Amino acid sequence: MLNYNKKLPDGASDWVVTEENFQTLALGKCEAVMALGNGYMGLRSAAEESYVGEKRNLFVNGTFNRFDEFEVSELPNAADVTGLDIRVDGKRFTLEQGEITEYSRSLNLRDAELVRSFIWTNAEGKKLEFTFRRFVSLDRLHLIGMKLDIKSLSGSVKVSIASGIDAQVSNSGSQHFHEGEKRIYDKKYLELIQTTTESKVDFVIGAAHRLKLDGQEIENSPAMEIDRRKVAVAYSVDLQEGQSLSFEKVATVHTSRDLAYAQDYSLPAMREHALGDLKSVYAAGYDALFQDHASAWAKVWNEYGITIESKNSFDLLALRFALYHMVVMTPAHDRRMGIGAKGLSGEGYKGHSFWDTEIFILPFYIYSNPKTARSLLEYRYLGLEGARRKAKENGYAGAMYPWEAAWPSDGEVTPVWGAVDIVTGEQTKIWSGFIEQHITSDIVYAVWHYYRATGDEDFMERYGYEMIFDTAIFWASRLEWDEAEGRYEINEVVGPDEYKEHVDNNAFTNYMAHFNIELAMQYYSKLETERPELFKHYDELLNLKEARKVWESKLDLIYLPQPNENRIIPQDDTYLQKEIIDLTPYKDQEKVGSIFNDYNLDQVGNMQISKQADIMMLFFLLENKFAPEVKLANYEYYEEKTLHDSSLSLSTHSILASDFGDKELAYHLFKRAAEIDLGPKIHSSDAGIHAASLGGIWECVVMGFAGVRMLDGQLHLAPKLPDHWEKLSFPLHWQGKPLEISITPQQISITNTASEPVQLFVNGELQVVQDTAIF
Ligand code: BGC
Repeated sequence: MLNYNKKLPDGASDWVVTEENFQTLALGKCEAVMALGNGYMGLRSAAEESYVGEKRNLFVNGTFNRFDEFEVSELPNAADVTGLDIRVDGKRFTLEQGEITEYSRSLNLRDAELVRSFIWTNAEGKKLEFTFRRFVSLDRLHLIGMKLDIKSLSGSVKVSIASGIDAQVSNSGSQHFHEGEKRIYDKKYLELIQTTTESKVDFVIGAAHRLKLDGQEIENSPAMEIDRRKVAVAYSVDLQEGQSLSFEKVATVHTSRDLAYAQDYSLPAMREHALGDLKSVYAAGYDALFQDHASAWAKVWNEYGITIESKNSFDLLALRFALYHMVVMTPAHDRRMGIGAKGLSGEGYKGHSFWDTEIFILPFYIYSNPKTARSLLEYRYLGLEGARRKAKENGYAGAMYPWEAAWPSDGEVTPVWGAVDIVTGEQTKIWSGFIEQHITSDIVYAVWHYYRATGDEDFMERYGYEMIFDTAIFWASRLEWDEAEGRYEINEVVGPDEYKEHVDNNAFTNYMAHFNIELAMQYYSKLETERPELFKHYDELLNLKEARKVWESKLDLIYLPQPNENRIIPQDDTYLQKEIIDLTPYKDQEKVGSIFNDYNLDQVGNMQISKQADIMMLFFLLENKFAPEVKLANYEYYEEKTLHDSSLSLSTHSILASDFGDKELAYHLFKRAAEIDLGPKIHSSDAGIHAASLGGIWECVVMGFAGVRMLDGQLHLAPKLPDHWEKLSFPLHWQGKPLEISITPQQISITNTASEPVQLFVNGELQVVQDTAIF
């Protein structure tokens, strides 16, 4: 459906995602896959003219609002600035009528510009050439730039364009804003001010237009309109054959959640600043603004410069696509914000952060941009407040992280009701917010991973140790003593495999809780001997000495499920006793979750069916704890029973397949992971792109094919390139040292640009690299 072979004008390839035919069925997919953003805001790429089935979304990170007490807080869909009502000789322009030729809509990943162009002939035979351009500026975080060029190819036509700021939008019906205030200054600068209903976040959105006829700016006094939740202007221009109209629009977005207003905020001051900003970007104009934006992207690609030389050029494009979306969804500018499971590209998962960030996306930042990794972890530090509240509300001590997180202090925001239960006809209850508890140790795992890979003591002293200690306090209070077995258990949970609810002793959860407590004990001893003052501080804050006694008494008694006689580790206490059915009809279907057309969740819960990697994830995270033959036996056992109905599954399986040396399988699974958003399934991305899967694509390449791992604080590299790859090179930050790794089937080259040597294991052998070394 999408084409990936288009070249850029300078001949560069593997940068462009193109839709070559207009089809309303693909509206959602293109809107999400081609979404724009800069971490501050995300703009779904709906067409300028509207279509039934479209989703127009503009999200500003961190601006969560709760519609009412029956809903959880979500990122509100802000007023739309992209819609244009275009009329040709008085009739509404739409691609559903007339004849379209030379159609293409492309996202250029290199400079993050969306371009849509075609020739359109209307029912009266008038032929017009349209080119729409759009970007969300990476260097000016508050700016959206748009441009439309229309050329008359036959005779004279009257073109009218109505454009403005349209707040007649909602989140699938939930209206997060008050009506607000609207104004037009100097017949040119449009302003809309709205406040979210519950969180009271003020938004100031501005827009201004510039028209040029054959390159000459025209003064065109527009018709002005202010209506309910709407402010707009309308322009009309007569075009002779061969003449071109260029219509530029700049829009600015500011909110009281902006970091600039964290300490000192007043609406009049923001309003004044926003108007000044709008005037200044208007003065600069689309082309100059776009150049600055493109230069900012050039720097990004330079910094993340990962390349693949492969016989299949899709591999590199898919990797760039993943990096592009990680950049546009990550709030690198503000540690009070996390990454949504759909980034900022759709209403799916309400903008909430899950373990997706720590386990799937964070590794990319740890090794490519440690500063951003730290900011994302600080978001979780700020979340301790909500985590402590959640623990208390559930009768536990310490910090119990929310399964879904929004604004750091919000605490648990997982919705309670989900999809239809085909047996009862009622909504299925979502248990994750109550009992999917592994998120707490996943976050701690990420803290540890970051620390061991970067050596960032400052982070640990300010934030990391506290997170590790307080979560260990939670786990210790969560453990349940089983008198008969003489062990501590964790019962009544959901593990990563969400098709098994209310299970006892999910192996992943138990092992990770054990890891969390063990780590806390290790750092307890370290601080006690090496940093007595810091130790005292945490002891006073968290009563560490008492906590340590409890950890010590419980750690070795935590039940860690062991392999059975067939080397299979039970995923939970009852999984292996459940019925096995043939899953072929439900695997790799057009729509995930096809099993629910035949069974409800309770029935699926009683069969050996897994939604996603569970034990496999455990093998990936705590790989030293399990023997290779155990991993392989479990892979073979569980893969058959895994539907990969979550996008968090395939990449983990691909990495493990790389570890087993099965290059063909690893590549096959990598490709399937890459196709979650880019592949032919037309509705797979309707609710937004799959953020974790995109992080997973990077992980497949760097942690799978290049075999990069942090094991016991040491860097390892053990490449297993797919057979059709000639080269893989990527930057890697290790302990503050920027390395350049380049791998071919024949050799591994490592360049260390720091003055200090770096120590790492290459294919299991310890090496010391200063400057460049070849292996
Ligand atoms: C998966 C979770 C994931 C969530 C958000 C669910 O379908 O089962 O593991 O965190 O989606 O991506």
